[in-house]
Amino acid sequence: MKGSGSRPQRVAEEPCVPARRRLSVLVTAQRPSRQQRQGRYVPESMKHPARMLPAIAAHVITDYTGPGELVLDPMCGIGTTLVEAIHLGRDAAGMEYETDFAHLTLRNLRHAQAQGATGTARLVCGDARNIATVFAELRGKVALVLTSPPYGSHTHGHVRSGRDNGGGKIEKTNHRYSTDPGNLAHRGLDELLDGFGRILAGCTQLLQPFGVVAVTVRPIRVKGELIDLPGRVTETAERAGLVLTDRLVALLCGLRDGGLVNRASFFQMLETRRARDKGIPACATAHEDLLLFQRTTDLNTDRE
Ligand SMILES: C[S@@+](CC[C@H](N)C(=O)[O-])C[C@H]1O[C@@H](n2cnc3c(N)ncnc32)[C@H](O)[C@@H]1O
Repeated sequence: MKGSGSRPQRVAEEPCVPARRRLSVLVTAQRPSRQQRQGRYVPESMKHPARMLPAIAAHVITDYTGPGELVLDPMCGIGTTLVEAIHLGRDAAGMEYETDFAHLTLRNLRHAQAQGATGTARLVCGDARNIATVFAELRGKVALVLTSPPYGSHTHGHVRSGRDNGGGKIEKTNHRYSTDPGNLAHRGLDELLDGFGRILAGCTQLLQPFGVVAVTVRPIRVKGELIDLPGRVTETAERAGLVLTDRLVALLCGLRDGGLVNRASFFQMLETRRARDKGIPACATAHEDLLLFQRTTDLNTDRE
């Protein structure tokens, strides 16, 4: 494929894109996560420790694909990317390592179809490090990969305070994906990134020309130390044959009356307070970095 003349219709469609869609800040948390899912996902979905906000998925899918195109999430959790894709008339494919979450994805997809979602979906439960083989028939067909790596289980989960459980200790639930050490969430950061790199390399083989890989990720604090996870993911993606073509902000806080509405979790606020107690002027993260990549080979060819 050579030159911008052969570029898919996306460029031709540009003039129709509303101005707000050209801005680098996505207003995606006007409603809290629970409200965004209510009636749209089965209630058990809340058990997953780290779901993507449905509004983030819907925004990205609307912006980077057209109806009928294929959206892939190699680490699909309870299926947010897939559900929002089929509601928007896109087709979807996903992989998830954990059987329980894969079942929840299936239930969420069936629920979406019962509500009138028109896209088709396919799902495989397994290790996405093999995704290029598992989905070999999708080679060259994926318009958008939208995913988020598992990380930071210390900031995940639900909390029952002493007030809720009759004065007992604070209880944390749903903060782990499973006890399976094979889940990349349970590996150290270097191993997690190595596995994520293999997954991205596999997805890259499935992309259509000028397809987009979108990764949501945020900086994390481990024992007070700030880890630039978006930076590490960018390096990982570059080693997998991708190039960073944009870096946006998806809000996790609301906007109301000219101010921000805090939607940070109990654990995020606790972590921030602990860092501040140590003299580190930390803030609770109120946005996801949305990293957008394309294949190095597509862009090089385009410049010829
Ligand atoms: C951050 S969560 C994704 C959540 C998802 N975006 C959603 O909204 O439900 C990352 C997921 O990756 C899964 N995972 C971990 N290692 C994996 C692997 N090797 N292959 C596929 N999925 C994996 C985890 O079980 C977890 O559900």
